[in-house]
Amino acid sequence: MKRVLSGIQPTGDLHLGNYFGMMSRMIKYQKENDLFCFIVNYHALTTIQDKKLLAENTLNAAIDFMALGLDPDRSTFWIQSDVPQVCESTWLLSNIVNVGALDRATSYKDKLAKGLTANVGLYSYPILMASDILLFGGEIVPVGKDQKQHIEITRDIAFRFNQTYGETFIVPEPDIEKTNQLVPGIDGQKMSKSYGNTIPIFGDEKSVRKKFMSIVTDSTDIDKPKSIDTALFQLYALFLSDNEKEELANRFKTPGMRYGDIKQELYDCFWAQFSPYREKRDYLEKHKYHVIQKLNEGSQKATVIADSFLDKARTAMGLNYGENNV
Ligand code: ADP
Ligand code: TRP
Repeated sequence: MKRVLSGIQPTGDLHLGNYFGMMSRMIKYQKENDLFCFIVNYHALTTIQDKKLLAENTLNAAIDFMALGLDPDRSTFWIQSDVPQVCESTWLLSNIVNVGALDRATSYKDKLAKGLTANVGLYSYPILMASDILLFGGEIVPVGKDQKQHIEITRDIAFRFNQTYGETFIVPEPDIEKTNQLVPGIDGQKMSKSYGNTIPIFGDEKSVRKKFMSIVTDSTDIDKPKSIDTALFQLYALFLSDNEKEELANRFKTPGMRYGDIKQELYDCFWAQFSPYREKRDYLEKHKYHVIQKLNEGSQKATVIADSFLDKARTAMGLNYGENNV
């Protein structure tokens, strides 16, 4: 049984990119693995500086995940800041990371390019993420392709630490979906909460339908073949089997297809797949105390593991100065 671990930022409503990039696999993996899953609210501090918003988003993300099938009784599910040991280990790990590795982090560079002001938290974000993984002994880390570089940085940190101080941390492996590596947003760029181009899984019916209808398309004439290298095709493909994808590709290539019809069908597929989870979500929303109680149980389980890795790291680095010295 492998320890499978991943986290998600509570920076807004969870969306199709989050679901197909990471959440669906986490939910599937919980059946046969030792699953560790958390809402990374410390990471969200790098971009959200509104107390009420962060607190609401944090609980909402946990509720969304549970409504979609993450079972806190089958996994260890918690809120990152309830195990603050990750901050101590972030500091320990910071001392073996060269700034060059952070300068090259593409997600940091992308965010800068989008005009986000870079605070030190955003810059050292990959070290906190490495700490999240190493402190809980994560072996397999399911993430979307955009996080691949962060996992490589984590692996590098684990190697270096073990080389410098002796075997302490497990070197994790990324788990990235082979098809659907990056879900496009309605504007055709990567779907991301920070780009305002998402389709939220639990948005209200009318506004979600509107999002589907506004997926960007080109102005190809109705009696011309349409390109399948587009956001509309890729989003629809998420809901289809291989055979169905081929059929859809043929429809795109056949003159006469209307983008509006395809968008409506895609919306119907989305609704058929996700609307059944709304009832569970409503129930959890009305029973927040139950969610919080499960999260507390999760943080207690996670703390035991974190303490043990942290103590090993402290000893390895010479911080437990009393040991063997008196
Ligand atoms: P966001 O970019 O919307 O803030 P997060 O950074 O919180 O999303 O990502 C949570 C998880 O969802 C990560 O594993 C990430 O790789 C995955 N993910 C996010 N957006 C996408 C996408 N558009 N396609 C595939 N996976 C995604
Ligand atoms: N950086 C990840 C993202 O934006 C979220 C994250 C934080 C994470 N800590 C993690 C993912 C540990 C996997 C493992 O998506």
